[in-house]
Parts: sequence; structure tokens; C-alpha cells
Amino acid sequence: MTDKSDNIQKVEVLSKKTWTPNLFSFTVTRPDSFKFTAGQWVRLGVNPSQLKHHVDNNTQDVPDEDIYRAYSIVSSPYDETLEFFSIVIPDGAFTSQLQHLQVGDELLLNTIPFGFLTLTRYQAPLPKDLWLLATGTGLAPFLSMLQDLKTWEDYEHIVLAYSARNQAELAYVELIKTLEEDFGGLVTSPAKFTFIPIVTREEVEGALDKRLPELLISGKLEQVAGEKLTKEHSHVMVCGNPDMVEDTKETLKDMGLEMNRRGEGNIAVENYW
Ligand SMILES: Cc1cc2nc3c(=O)[nH]c(=O)nc-3n(C[C@H](O)[C@H](O)[C@H](O)COP(=O)(O)OP(=O)(O)OC[C@H]3O[C@@H](n4cnc5c(N)ncnc54)[C@H](O)[C@@H]3O)c2cc1C
Ligand SMILES: NC(=O)c1ccc[n+]([C@@H]2O[C@H](COP(=O)([O-])OP(=O)(O)OC[C@H]3O[C@@H](n4cnc5c(N)ncnc54)[C@H](OP(=O)(O)O)[C@@H]3O)[C@@H](O)[C@H]2O)c1
Repeated sequence: MTDKSDNIQKVEVLSKKTWTPNLFSFTVTRPDSFKFTAGQWVRLGVNPSQLKHHVDNNTQDVPDEDIYRAYSIVSSPYDETLEFFSIVIPDGAFTSQLQHLQVGDELLLNTIPFGFLTLTRYQAPLPKDLWLLATGTGLAPFLSMLQDLKTWEDYEHIVLAYSARNQAELAYVELIKTLEEDFGGLVTSPAKFTFIPIVTREEVEGALDKRLPELLISGKLEQVAGEKLTKEHSHVMVCGNPDMVEDTKETLKDMGLEMNRRGEGNIAVENYW
């Protein structure tokens, strides 16, 4: 459906990186007035008929109307461009078209940022540890937070656990590896950062191989992080696959942690579908 809101702005695709046939990232121009908090999402729009010329066999019938979907912002609130990380669902109305985008193409951006998976939701005094747990493209909001210096100033130890089906789908690993040096190094007392890659459908050296709730129940995640998840010391954010979010949330509650409401409590979550 065409969104006729005044908040829609045209943005231009500046770069595209393909991770796997089902995963890609892209950057677009950032409208001057557009502000957001790390962890928020926007509604991105595409008009399939405008991308049709990129398809080899472009005889397919595509709708000549704008389609919008929610997308978390990967880049930091201070970056000059906006970055996004996308799945390709072969029969998905949005991504089956979006996958064809190329540098120079136009997308639509609703400049109202949405979402409460932000660190500003937590009231002071903050605990010492921040745990960020993601599956698939659910990594996106955490990359934004981790490129915001305040996150490193606010917590003593940040743990990022990121689960993908196979190694090729574990995107952004190189960026993640530089975060501690780039941002941790800037705070007076460098924050400790532990990255825990999880690959569930093949064996990969240096990665765990079980799903997040199982790793919590067995104590393996805490063991690798070298920290205990506790009501007193931990903020935990969970993002991605809704079944994972639900099971992880329930497991954390069984461990004594509480949902964050009105600033109080440990756990904040976001479902992607
Ligand atoms: C708050 C929020 C933030 C989001 N941020 C992102 C983001 O940063 N990157 C992104 O790729 N998607 C994100 N999504 C999902 C996105 O809005 C679309 O669902 C996705 O682009 C697929 O659109 P589609 O029309 O092709 O398929 P849809 O018809 O929307 O989805 C079809 C099915 O595909 C699966 N699916 C949908 N999205 C994903 C996904 N991201 N990973 C794995 N399986 C999925 C689900 O089984 C879903 O039922 C977000 C969703 C929400 C609610
Ligand atoms: N055709 C393909 O080759 C292909 C490849 C990738 C994605 N896709 C498409 O993308 C969609 C899925 O994308 P995705 O791989 O990013 O997302 P995903 O299925 O959510 O998998 C991402 C990670 O989340 C884990 N996970 C899934 N359900 C979980 C749960 N209930 N609890 C804990 N962890 C859980 C997965 O583990 P498990 O491995 O144990 O499930 C995997 O490590 C599919 O709907 C499909 O259409 C297709």
C-alpha cells in the first residue's frame, strides 16, 4: 500500500554487500533532519516496478505500488549514512524485490524512528554487565548500540552472542572483532567485550553449536563469557527469531531475571516477525 505520509523521504542506495544468496547489507543517504537512538527501526519502502529492470528475465508481473517493511538501523546515530542488514525470503513480498537493488537506486524511508529496544529504556543505576543475544539479522540493533561510545562508557562488560545457521551467515564478524579496539579503547577504563559466535548447522572452530536457550540452561554461555547472569548485575537484550525470543525470555525468567518495565528489570526483547 502506498504510504502518503509527509514523513516519507527518498534515499539513494550508496553501497551493497552480499554475504550469502540470502543475506545482504546496504547503505543509503541519511536525510539531514533524521535522528534516531541506537537500536531503533524504521519503515523502508520499495517500489518493485522500479527495480524490475535489474532482473535478467524482467517479464515477471510486479506491483507498481510501494511496499514497506520494518528495518533496524545497523549504523550508529552519529554516522553520515544509514546501513541496513537484510534477509532474502524468496517468496517474501518485500525482500524478493529488495534483493535486486543496486547502487544508485532509490528507496523510501519513513523518517519516524520506532522501537524500544534501546539502552535509554533502562533507568540508572545501571548494572555492570550488558548481554546482547541475537539470531540472524536480529544482530542489526546491537551493531548500532556497539558503535555508540556511550554503550561502552555505561557498562563494564559487554557480551554479544550471535547465532546463525552456518558460518557463511555469520555476517559482520570482522566489524565485531574491531569494536573492542575501536570503542572500548576510547573509554577511560576500557570496557571488556566478549563475542560469542554460535553456528547451529555446521561445526565451526571457535563457535558454539547449540541454540541460545540451551546454552543458557547448560550454563555454557555464562562459562564462555566468564560472567553470571543475575538480576543484580545484568541487562539482557534479545532480538530476532520470535521462537528464540520467547524461549530465551522464559529461560532468563527461570534464572531469576525480570522483564524490563518502566525502566526497572533486566530483559528487553524485539521480535522480527
Ligand atoms: C521491529 C522489526 C525490525 C526488523 N528489522 C529487520 C532487519 O533489520 N533486517 C531484516 O532482514 N528484517 C527485519 N525485519 C523483518 C522485516 O520487516 C521483513 O519481515 C523482512 O524484510 C521480510 O519481508 P518479506 O516481505 O520479504 O517477507 P514477510 O512476508 O515479511 O516474511 C515472511 C516470513 O519470512 C520470515 N522472516 C521475515 N523476516 C525475517 C528475517 N529478518 N530473518 C529471518 N526470517 C525472516 C518469517 O518466517 C516470516 O513469516 C524486522 C521486523 C520487525 C518487526
Ligand atoms: N534456502 C536457504 O538456504 C535459506 C538459508 C537461510 C535462510 N533462509 C530463509 O531465511 C529464513 C530464516 O532465516 P535465518 O536463518 O536468518 O533465521 P533463523 O531460522 O531464525 O536462524 C538463525 C539462527 O537462529 C536459530 N534459531 C532458530 N529458531 C530458534 C529457536 N526457537 N531458539 C533458539 N534459536 C533458534 C537457528 O538455529 P537452528 O539452525 O537450530 O534453527 C540459527 O542459529 C527462513 O524462513 C528461510 O526462508 C533460507
